[in-house]
Amino acid sequence: MKAESGKRRTESEKLQSVPKRIDEVTYSETKRIATGCGEFDRVLGGGIVPGSLLLLGGEPGIGKSTLLLQTALAVKDKRLLYVSGEESEQQIKMRADRLVERGKRKVEREELYVVSETVTQRIFEHIDAVKPELLIVDSIQTITTEDVDSPAGSVSQIRQCTTEFQHYAKTTGVPVLLIGHITKDGTLAGPKVMEHIVDAVLQFEGDRHYGFRILRALKNRFGSTAEIGIFEMLGNGLREVPNPSELLLSQRDENLSGAAVAATLEGARPMFIEVQSLVSSAVYGTPQRNANGFDMRRLNMLLAVLEKRCGFKLGAKDVFLNIAGGLRVNDPAIDLAVACAVLSSNVDMPVSPRYCFAAELGLNGEVRPVSRVEQRIAEADRLGFERMFISKYNARSIDKKRYKIEIGLQGTFCMMC
Ligand code: TYD
Ligand code: MG
Repeated sequence: MKAESGKRRTESEKLQSVPKRIDEVTYSETKRIATGCGEFDRVLGGGIVPGSLLLLGGEPGIGKSTLLLQTALAVKDKRLLYVSGEESEQQIKMRADRLVERGKRKVEREELYVVSETVTQRIFEHIDAVKPELLIVDSIQTITTEDVDSPAGSVSQIRQCTTEFQHYAKTTGVPVLLIGHITKDGTLAGPKVMEHIVDAVLQFEGDRHYGFRILRALKNRFGSTAEIGIFEMLGNGLREVPNPSELLLSQRDENLSGAAVAATLEGARPMFIEVQSLVSSAVYGTPQRNANGFDMRRLNMLLAVLEKRCGFKLGAKDVFLNIAGGLRVNDPAIDLAVACAVLSSNVDMPVSPRYCFAAELGLNGEVRPVSRVEQRIAEADRLGFERMFISKYNARSIDKKRYKIEIGLQGTFCMMC
């Protein structure tokens, strides 16, 4: 019986799929749609792939609608449909007017259609009428399908609606961009259930009180997830920031203690940021520790290393740490700059603003090597830094003669102090 059914299956499948040698597999390079926004295209891996389903996630109010409406206004020679379940057509128009105000132009896109609608069945009717070449849906949490009997935003609604858009994208070749809200800790179930259905998950993040926004790809079937896009939110929309380091480094006073510049990498992109610290005697019983944009546990670990391995008495001190620009940094290469900023504030001695740092600190106080050190050095050189401190274990992979910048090789942090 078993053998028979197995045989039948192979016979029926023979017609559909036959394993091929990889060098015999052919495909034609699909032409991507350029969004008209360099930073967005960079994150996508060179534009939107036809028939793809993309999710743009982010906290409410971070600028997702702005980004996609701005993109919709910038895409050239394509018919677009922008469906909003959150805003009326008038509101969308008002926002669009604000976005193009910068150039004192009027909204001139004849091929951009907007509609306020929440039911997928109606949306597909509008799609039949408009026949768009790119569809934008804002946001998936507000959309419902008549096939599912639960409220908008519930997991079953989100899953079903996403599947319907996926089917539409795959059968027609029209790419679909979905917006999805996530909370700060990313716990809301919605976008999580969508992640495996969609082709790419882009995340828009930043601190709402600051202008900087980072667009990253958490998943991308058509490109690398190492690229990030950087924007600045202005009164009239998002501005692309091709050179973030130049903007992030404040023009600080040479005599100010408690600041050090870290040469970090976000994805494949060098970003030089200022780490600021304030160390003072604890006024209350328990010393306070606070970090903005940096992991608290990592800060506590670094303070313990400074205390135990290097003999700095920080146990009775309040320590505050801040990453300038409202950014969040996960690159371990920032450790050395954090330690230097803390000590600089502790002993009230400034670190030269022309120095920068890129190394991880180990539990024994050892200065550890970081990835892509050449790229960091090249950027530091370009930005005109005088000296860069890195781990001596990175020495082998660099050719010092190529750079003007002086390179300080460090073994342990205590020696450095
Ligand atoms: P929005 O795109 O509505 O966020 P999301 O869709 O992610 O919820 O934008 C949110 C904030 O951006 C809003 O509070 C105001 C600000 N903003 C500007 O600063 N400048 C602008 O040009 C626009 C359109 C918005
Ligand atoms: Mg919105």
